[in-house]
Amino acid sequence: MATYDYGLMIGMMMAIFLASFASADPDMLQDVCVADPNSGVKLNGFPCKSNISANDFFFMGLKNPGLTNNTFGATVTAANVQQIPGLNTLGVSMARIDYAPGGINPPHTHPRATEIVFVLEGELDVGFITTDNKLFPKTIKKGEVFTFPRGLIHFQINNGKVPAAVIAGFNSQLPGTQRVADALFASSPTVDDVVLAKTFQVETKVVEKIKSKFAPKK
Ligand SMILES: *[C@@H]1O[C@H](CO)[C@@H](O)[C@H](O)[C@H]1NC(C)=O
Ligand SMILES: *[C@@H]1O[C@H](CO)[C@@H](O)[C@H](O)[C@H]1NC(C)=O
Repeated sequence: MATYDYGLMIGMMMAIFLASFASADPDMLQDVCVADPNSGVKLNGFPCKSNISANDFFFMGLKNPGLTNNTFGATVTAANVQQIPGLNTLGVSMARIDYAPGGINPPHTHPRATEIVFVLEGELDVGFITTDNKLFPKTIKKGEVFTFPRGLIHFQINNGKVPAAVIAGFNSQLPGTQRVADALFASSPTVDDVVLAKTFQVETKVVEKIKSKFAPKK
């Protein structure tokens, strides 16, 4: 075998090896395992329920725009295992995000999934930030697609004059969402003011002011 072919083969083997680690959720061990959220059994995912039907795989909640008359002018409507129990063990989910003009989906991460969005309407300025603090910004328009790699902080803002909307796909049945500002300024119990003052190099009264804007999560 020529050296070139050998290198190519090693490369392909490595790609296959890496791809087998790139999927976010563990692989399934049977055709279906519709989630039984009421089971008291704790495991990775949800236990399977026995009496299942097509409706366990169905959801109509992404049909209509979500309300955007809130603080951030945007709403995420999830279509994950919590809305579609049939997604349990299947390693995928979706969401719809609607943005009023000026609306923002503030900086957040999905610890368990890469996200790929398709713009349904309007135009968005989006970006993700790598662990070496490099920003990858992009303006995306109707019909276009953008990707937010798993675990990286990202955001979308509608700087346009008309509403915008995207459909998002995730390679996890439950990607998880952690908003940076909420995590730091609205945790329960709260992160000590001194920690945040030293972190952001501001006075504690600035921290108090930011905290007052965020209702603590239960
Ligand atoms: C199974 O579910 C259907 C509705 O989804 C219900 O009508 C039926 O009684 C259930 N059967 C059992 C054995 O629980
Ligand atoms: C948003 O609009 C809906 C429907 O018009 C209304 O029911 C709801 O109270 C509004 N929410 C806020 C926070 O204004």
